[in-house]
Formats: sequence, C-alpha cells, structure tokens
Amino acid sequence: MKNIVVLVSGGGTNLQALIDAEKRGELGGGKITCVISSKPDAYALKRAKDAFIRTKVLERKEFPDIAAYSKAMAELLKECEADLVVYAGFMTILDEQVCGAFPYKMINVHPALIPSFCGKGYYGLRVHEEALKKGVKVTGATVHFVTEECDGGPIILQKAVAVKNGDTPEILQRRVMEEAEWKILPEAVRLFCEDRIKVENGVTIISE
Ligand code: GAR
Repeated sequence: MKNIVVLVSGGGTNLQALIDAEKRGELGGGKITCVISSKPDAYALKRAKDAFIRTKVLERKEFPDIAAYSKAMAELLKECEADLVVYAGFMTILDEQVCGAFPYKMINVHPALIPSFCGKGYYGLRVHEEALKKGVKVTGATVHFVTEECDGGPIILQKAVAVKNGDTPEILQRRVMEEAEWKILPEAVRLFCEDRIKVENGVTIISE
C-alpha cells in the first residue's frame, strides 16, 4: 500500500476526485493518509475532514522565505512517510529541499497542455485567461512529475479539451476540470501506485 499525501491551497475539487477514486478502489491500492494545506481556510480541508483524512496546515506567511517554508514542508512530508506527494491545486512553489527529498515521487496537475501556458505566474484562472487571450482552439490538462523547474518535470498524462465560442475563463476552467483534470489525476496516481511509470532521459514510459 502506498501512502499518499495531498497538498492543497483552495477549493479541492481535484482532491475530491482522488477521494472518490479511492472509494471506488481506483487508486491502485494507494491510500490518502494526509492532506496539507497552505491556507487555513481552504475548502479542501473540509473535503478531507468529511472523508476522515488527517489534515495539517502549513501557512506560507508564517515563514520568512521559500527556503524556510520548503524545509518545514520536507520535514512534514517525511514525518507523514509519504510514498507519493500529489499537488492538487497547491499554489506555492517549493525548492530543491522538497524536490530533492522526493525525486519522481511528487506529481502535479496543471490546467493546460504543457509546454503551453505554464511556468511561474501561470496558475488557476490565469492559465485560462491567457489561453483565451491567445485564441487557442484546444487546451487541456497535464499531470507531470514535480522537479525544481516549475511545470518542467516529466509529463505523465495529458488530455485535450476543446475551447468553445463564448467561453469565459471560469467556463473553460470548469470544462478542463470536468473533462480532463478529474480524470487524469486519479489515473496518474493509480499508475504510480501500480509501479507502472518509469523515467528515462527525462521522459516517462508507462508500462501496459
Ligand atoms: C486546478 O485547476 C489546478 O489544475 C490548478 O488550480 C486549480 C485548483 O482547483 N493548479 C494550478 O494552476 C497549479 N499551477 P481545485 O483546488 O478545485 O483542485
């Protein structure tokens, strides 16, 4: 059984997709044992509590800088004995103290088809605003391993989603979540828990 720790900052719909998938037995035997939030008022914490999952809050503003915050996060993740760390709408970039401690053991869901609309400053609704501004006809979501390079780690799964006439950032965000994120995030967690993902030369290979 793999011990899954989920990092959140907001509404937690991706966390909910993981909780629901675990209930259906679709996480490859993985178990969500702790949810850590960077914000004390994140609705994601309620979702975790409702599912009887242990919660912790590690507030960014209580630490002087990213290095101090990352150190505390690395310690907490080790204390949780995490086999897999899932960033599910987690909005703080962590440094190499965390990435180095969990190499290819952390995954993130990003609401665009990487390498489009990604990197520092591209998060949440902002990603969809930029996609609409550019006028792309297809966007989507990506699940990738977390490395020191923001949104730059090996890609695990991607799913495309159509952009439609009249889309607002909010409408597009919802469609990307429903059609892509809530599907590929639990799927990637399942593949990880079944030991089916390996990384060669910076590229993932998923075994059948
Ligand atoms: C999701 O769309 C997720 O992909 C995005 O924030 C939203 C969180 O929603 N994450 C990022 O932009 C990270 N760069 P949720 O809290 O309802 O899961």
